[in-house]
Amino acid sequence: MNCPHCDSSEVEHRTYNSEVDRSVYKCRSCGRRFRADDDGVRADGGKVGNGTERSGNSSGGMERFEAVDEIVPNGGRDRDGSHRTLGRWTFEYTPAREFVEDRLEGRVLNACAGRTLLEHDDEIVRNDLNPDREADLHVDVCEIADHFVPGEFDTVVFDPPFDDHQADDKYDGLRADGVLEAFGEFAKLVRPKGRVITFGWNSWGMSSIDAFEREETVLLQRGPCLRDVIVTVDRRTNHSITVKRSGNDRTLHTETEQS
Ligand SMILES: C[S@@+](CC[C@H](N)C(=O)[O-])C[C@H]1O[C@@H](n2cnc3c(N)ncnc32)[C@H](O)[C@@H]1O
Repeated sequence: MNCPHCDSSEVEHRTYNSEVDRSVYKCRSCGRRFRADDDGVRADGGKVGNGTERSGNSSGGMERFEAVDEIVPNGGRDRDGSHRTLGRWTFEYTPAREFVEDRLEGRVLNACAGRTLLEHDDEIVRNDLNPDREADLHVDVCEIADHFVPGEFDTVVFDPPFDDHQADDKYDGLRADGVLEAFGEFAKLVRPKGRVITFGWNSWGMSSIDAFEREETVLLQRGPCLRDVIVTVDRRTNHSITVKRSGNDRTLHTETEQS
């Protein structure tokens, strides 16, 4: 079995919810995941990324449809018998915490750290605007790149309040209003080949920035009448970064650019 993305033979079954998941492989070389029946090759011989491509849109080009990789059902019990619930502190919910911990690589920035301490074999820098939260710094995530050297993180975790109601109801009125600004900050801080893991009500993630490629989109179900939480994993693919705004593209220059 070789990885359909980089052709490496260094592949293994991934671990999920503390158990080996034999339906999904993880490539030790490029870090991407794939299923056993995913040969990564379109009928015309081109490579497929993490999504599905269909021909025949109005401009005659290829439309790209990203796939949802996994839907994680709500509920169940932890090993100690307690009920699992996805609540205010996202990573106290075991499937969310394990999903994130399984994807942490190298030096990590937990940009809206909240209360939960993640486990990882390298440094995790915690930021939270609320001075009462246990964190290394307490700054607005929309200006966080001012506090670090460009490209100094391998992974950024972004789990902000998802909307104004949540911010007022659960997080002392603190909010991350400029989500696009926050994504621009992460583009500066994450090194090439690094990852940004985003939690929210939508699947946008780092897709405003063309140097990032979607690796995974996962839904965390919360119940029949509640919205799913959407988790996206985006990997930085090259050194040149453009932030797309409607009709007004903006290029970000970072010290990690090669040209
Ligand atoms: C959803 S909670 C994070 C939960 C965390 N993942 C956990 O499991 O404990 C969002 C956090 O973002 C913080 N926050 C809100 N606005 C922020 C901002 N503009 N910059 C940085 N942190 C912010 C809140 O104080 C809150 O602790």
